[in-house]
Amino acid sequence: MSKIILTGDRPTGRLHVGHYVGSLRERVRLQNSGEYDKIFIMIADAQALTDNAENPEKVRQNVIEVALDYLSVGLDPAKSSILIQTQIPELTELSFYYMNLVTVSRLQRNPTVKAEIQMRNFEANIPVGFFTYPISQAADITAFLATTVPVGEDQLPMLEQTREIVRKFNSVYGETLVEPEALLPSNKACLRLPGIDGKAKMSKSLGNCIYLSDTEEEVRQKVMSMFTDPNHLRVSDPGQVEGNPVSSYLDAFARDEHFAEFCPDYQNLDEMKAHYSRGGLGDVKVKRFLNNVLQTELAPIRAKRKEYERDIPGVYDILRKGSDKAREEAAHTLDMVRSAMRINYFDDAELIRAQSEKFNG
Ligand code: TRP
Repeated sequence: MSKIILTGDRPTGRLHVGHYVGSLRERVRLQNSGEYDKIFIMIADAQALTDNAENPEKVRQNVIEVALDYLSVGLDPAKSSILIQTQIPELTELSFYYMNLVTVSRLQRNPTVKAEIQMRNFEANIPVGFFTYPISQAADITAFLATTVPVGEDQLPMLEQTREIVRKFNSVYGETLVEPEALLPSNKACLRLPGIDGKAKMSKSLGNCIYLSDTEEEVRQKVMSMFTDPNHLRVSDPGQVEGNPVSSYLDAFARDEHFAEFCPDYQNLDEMKAHYSRGGLGDVKVKRFLNNVLQTELAPIRAKRKEYERDIPGVYDILRKGSDKAREEAAHTLDMVRSAMRINYFDDAELIRAQSEKFNG
């Protein structure tokens, strides 16, 4: 069986370092591993519209931001098809068929949807499209017969729901679709990078993100203003590394080479953390180190983004080609789906022959 990746992001803002360690870095690694036959990376504008219906311009402006973020981290259009969700109408058709295989109460139990409904204060005014977006996400994944979906932890309920839809479809209509697997980053610290304010998650609305496209100075200022252990008042005081975002960022980003280069007092992160915990290591020194580490990782990304920004028509060309390729794949799956569902009337010579016989003997 071919190994196929599909994953994506909603274009509602620029991508941040949480996206990077949680999924983007993994995608690039998988892309360059050469182990996958096809890779599809989706800019999920239709999904973004499910809770931004009145704000289409915001979604439209962020499609290119996300595309630039993708290209700048090293997603390579020669190896990965980057596509815009709305340009593949087959996905909408597939969602409509899947709606018959999912109950309202099952959607209500989806923990990600539940949390998002609360966060957005939708209460009784949940748009139907938003409520059903897990079904549309199942269509995104299965339309490409994806085997592997590299995502952040918050997307696991979507994968579970997708797998259920696949099993239901295959049991009702015959083996057609592929059950996908989620792929999480192996480094635990990468699952959920906290905000620079120490809140559980980076989020644009909280204003606590470091963006991939931030300037060197913006990154430096954000790092130096990061929340740390509030009880670590004097350098000599023992410090807490648990729940300390500076320490979590180092878990996600720091490698032993970084110590050799920027902070040779320590061989590795364990030594630095041990010193912090027993006291005698100040926050400023740790933040300076984190800043150096982040700048090392982000500088090439920033430079690559600048190059692509100079050729926006070229970026749209990449998106058009990726979408064309994706549409071909999805159309092929839809042919199989329609035939499994017995709605392929005009392609079925046998149907027409048998019915002629039925009516005319
Ligand atoms: N729900 C994802 C997000 O919030 C975006 C997305 C849409 C997606 N379709 C997908 C992710 C399919 C993985 C697979 O960013």
